[in-house]
Amino acid sequence: MSRGFGYRHIDCASAYSNHAEIGSALKKLFDDGLVKREDLWITSKLWCSDHAPEDVTKALDKTLEELQLEYLDLYLIHWPVRMNSGTFGLNKEYLEQPDIPRTWRAMEALYDSGKARAIGVSNFSSKKLQDLLDIAKVPHAVNQVELHPQWQQPKLHAFCESKGIHLSGYSPLGSPGMLKSDILKNPVVLEIAEKLGKTPAQVALKWGLQAGHSVLPKSTNESRIKGNFDVFEWSIPEDLMAKFSEIKQASS
Ligand code: A2P
Repeated sequence: MSRGFGYRHIDCASAYSNHAEIGSALKKLFDDGLVKREDLWITSKLWCSDHAPEDVTKALDKTLEELQLEYLDLYLIHWPVRMNSGTFGLNKEYLEQPDIPRTWRAMEALYDSGKARAIGVSNFSSKKLQDLLDIAKVPHAVNQVELHPQWQQPKLHAFCESKGIHLSGYSPLGSPGMLKSDILKNPVVLEIAEKLGKTPAQVALKWGLQAGHSVLPKSTNESRIKGNFDVFEWSIPEDLMAKFSEIKQASS
């Protein structure tokens, strides 16, 4: 990749099984002096089978070891779902009753230790966020959820904004090719893209930013990475933003 474009936020998870590769890539970048640790934002996530307090600590230690890092910028509970300790994968047979308050106490201890500079959650509904706020000593900084023009979640936006929780959107392009999504071919998105002289992907990402959440677009393609960055020097006018409400939502 040419210099000047690239990611500074690396969104990892135990479930993605990519810590070791990312760790060696980061080490090389640091050794070569291309980037400093403090200029990156590294997120990772606690897997569902590590919810027991003693496993929470072990899971983060393992993650840090694999990433060859001293601390994470953000550590998230990946799902409000608990699986038997020692299992992997989302299998109904492994399901256990989650005890989020107990898990959260362990997450707070990681925050206090400085190994996780911020803590948060992923895939939490407003109700689950409120339940957690009711018991948290350290409130969750972030909720990372699926967000895109076909899954806009306005109530969750409003709730997070009212509580000062940062909302972060994964699959902001609807994971083209994976979730049978057609966001990049949606007529409303195409019309706005044409009017503004932007690509449908840029319009989908800009919608997310203007709706008030951060976006986590993944690409392995240099020109798409570059294009996905070009979302800061322009905006979608109000009348065109209003058109996103016409887009049929995934659940309806
Ligand atoms: P690729 O790596 O070949 O660019 P999401 O972030 O919604 O999960 O989507 C990720 C997928 O979207 C990846 O498969 C990626 O493929 C593709 N993608 C990323 N940026 C663009 C873009 N600007 N236009 C079309 N597809 C894109």
